[in-house]
Amino acid sequence: MRRILAPFLAVLFAAAACSSPIIHAQSVAPAVVPAYVPYKDAQLSPEKRAADLLSRMTLEEKATLLSGSDWMASAPIERLGIPAIKMADGPLGVRSWAGSSAITGLPDAPLKVLSTSFPSGVAMAATWDRALVQREGQAIAQEVKALGRDMILGPTVNINRVPLWGRNFEGYGEDPYLSARLGVAYIQGVQGESVIPSVKHFDANNEEFERHRIDEQIDARTLHEIYLPAFKAAVEEANAWTVMSAYNKVNGVHCAESAELLTDILRKEFAFKGFVTSDWGSTYSTAATVNAGMDLEMPGGTPMKTWLAQPGTQAVGNGGGWLAADKVVAEVKAGHISGARIDDNVGRILRVIFLSGIFDHPHTAGGEVNTPAQAAVARQSATESIVLLKNADSLLPLDAAKIHTIAVIGPNAAVARTGGGGSSLVEPKYAIAPLDGIRTRAGAGVEVKYALGVGMEGEVPAQDTPEARTKLMKEAAEAAAHADVAVVVVGRYEKIEREDFDVKTMDLPAGQDELIEAVVRANPHTIVVLNTGDPVTMTRWIEKTPALVEMWYGGQEAGAALASILFGDANPSGKLPVSLPKEWKDTPAYGNYLGVNLKVNYAEGIYIGYRYYDTKNVEPQFPFGFGLSYTSFEYSGLKLTPGKASGNEPVEVSLNVKNSGSRAGAEVIQLYVHDGHSKIDRPVHELKGFQRVELQPGETKAVHFTLDRAALSYWSPEKKNWVADLGTFEIQVGASSRDIRMHQPLKLER
Ligand code: BGC
Repeated sequence: MRRILAPFLAVLFAAAACSSPIIHAQSVAPAVVPAYVPYKDAQLSPEKRAADLLSRMTLEEKATLLSGSDWMASAPIERLGIPAIKMADGPLGVRSWAGSSAITGLPDAPLKVLSTSFPSGVAMAATWDRALVQREGQAIAQEVKALGRDMILGPTVNINRVPLWGRNFEGYGEDPYLSARLGVAYIQGVQGESVIPSVKHFDANNEEFERHRIDEQIDARTLHEIYLPAFKAAVEEANAWTVMSAYNKVNGVHCAESAELLTDILRKEFAFKGFVTSDWGSTYSTAATVNAGMDLEMPGGTPMKTWLAQPGTQAVGNGGGWLAADKVVAEVKAGHISGARIDDNVGRILRVIFLSGIFDHPHTAGGEVNTPAQAAVARQSATESIVLLKNADSLLPLDAAKIHTIAVIGPNAAVARTGGGGSSLVEPKYAIAPLDGIRTRAGAGVEVKYALGVGMEGEVPAQDTPEARTKLMKEAAEAAAHADVAVVVVGRYEKIEREDFDVKTMDLPAGQDELIEAVVRANPHTIVVLNTGDPVTMTRWIEKTPALVEMWYGGQEAGAALASILFGDANPSGKLPVSLPKEWKDTPAYGNYLGVNLKVNYAEGIYIGYRYYDTKNVEPQFPFGFGLSYTSFEYSGLKLTPGKASGNEPVEVSLNVKNSGSRAGAEVIQLYVHDGHSKIDRPVHELKGFQRVELQPGETKAVHFTLDRAALSYWSPEKKNWVADLGTFEIQVGASSRDIRMHQPLKLER
């Protein structure tokens, strides 16, 4: 990688070799741009064009590029024809970029953008379907272009460390390998459409509590094994064009000022060639930020000033305006920032402007969004994401021919709760609520009755009184008692699970446990559906409940997707990308969350999620990787070729998987590596491969994985590198982290 980087830097900085003379020369009036200039020549490489353009820029112009001009746009430079990079929030669809949301509070009227609402990140992760995530990235990028924007702020690849993080729904769950593969797929989908993604939030944005001030103490091994792999893969495998730094501090330093993160790790270790943007309002200094390798401060211009001037914005810890051109120029002139540094940062932004094609082919608004093809990707994603967690006596799938009445109950039944709250929440043209989806699918022959059962906590105060609760619950139990089947849709909503706040408790909102218990008592044929992004406590009712489905926040199509699963039009194939613990006190970071005096110690280290539950023998409610199907799968013939590992020679792992049931379905085969001989403590196993395979009844398919040395390695704090200890590993394949079906030894010889 470093070899690839060297020529780029050499070309890019040929002009910058004499960095200080350039700075002096820049105080003179900018020259008129001649008719032919290499940077306008689309035949030349982005690196050459960036270097040429850089050599024609004044210091003031360069400094101008280092901060935004607007809430969601970088600065254009008209003299040179440099376009603004026009951004929009994602990652779960395209969100209005006007900035007049609850976050910005800007006075301008909000610009309405109605685009496709895709399932939340955790739901996409539950599909374990790289190709689908790539298609999602592609569909979102097409909408970005159709709306005349250039950059989507996603994917979110932060790891689910605690079940209470308000933004767990945005990320891809608890496992770094799964997050890495899906992040790569999303980026490939976006960049393949010449749209700029932004992998966020670098690094370790794992709680919203005091997100601007919290200081996370994380050791190097934990960073490398858990909190960096998805970013590393984004850079090394997908060549991600931009990364967004996080709000929080890591080991005492704000991420936007961390030379260790932005320069030593990102630029040097991963050989990142793109640019880093700050998270919105996460900068606190000029020279330290620029010198750390933070290239673009966002937001900028008047919206930034208006926002920072509002009461509360800075009080909660937002900072900004530090990379405004005058401040940067002053620091350069004072000798606190070198010309070479400015050229590096600006050169990175310019390179992406050329590489993405937005210099030569600007995106213009007016295209179509929410096309049938895009909605179909959202529908397939929502369907594949649904996880069937319990299905006693094969209560599901429902047979519409045999059912006369269904009671659909719950605060999440009649309202489409498409996503969690904050910057990722998309406003779709339409959204299908579970009740709508079930009604449509059930058809005229089935009576579908609805009862609220309990109000969503805090949403309608009149529904939160004890009298109202008693009445609503009674109505629900009666509806359930008179129906053949009851479907209770419970969960949270965008004001409880959201950016800016953590969730206060792992328990479902007030009254929902009681509602489930009352409905299950009234009707033994009850299906509980969870509409959540975070794990929730189920201990009160799980034993008594015959069927349980996790539908996540599934975007605009979720209600129809749910109905297709309940009625068996689609066979559930989602698998948990996160362990569902029994109780909050069982979780690995319990006791080391929120922190003391704004410091939070990641004392559990690498032991998060199944790495903790499986190693320390703590039984979760449902394990990582788990999900039921309406059919069954048999695994056979596990084979390793060659039978031994040495050097960097890849090992092929193959097996056969058969659909031994009577319905078509998909299985996610998971590969874990167990290292029982390492010199340092390691989790009992770690995910190192997965394949989603679709099989007709009776069909068998061969499944292949390739293992490399990295799959056997851990991060050695001593060697400051990845190390695989010679000896015998165990290669495991299974249907969840706790359902290992087959294993074989693999000896690493040298
Ligand atoms: C969020 C980012 C988002 C940005 C712009 C921040 O508050 O953390 O994820 O992209 O705002 O809206």
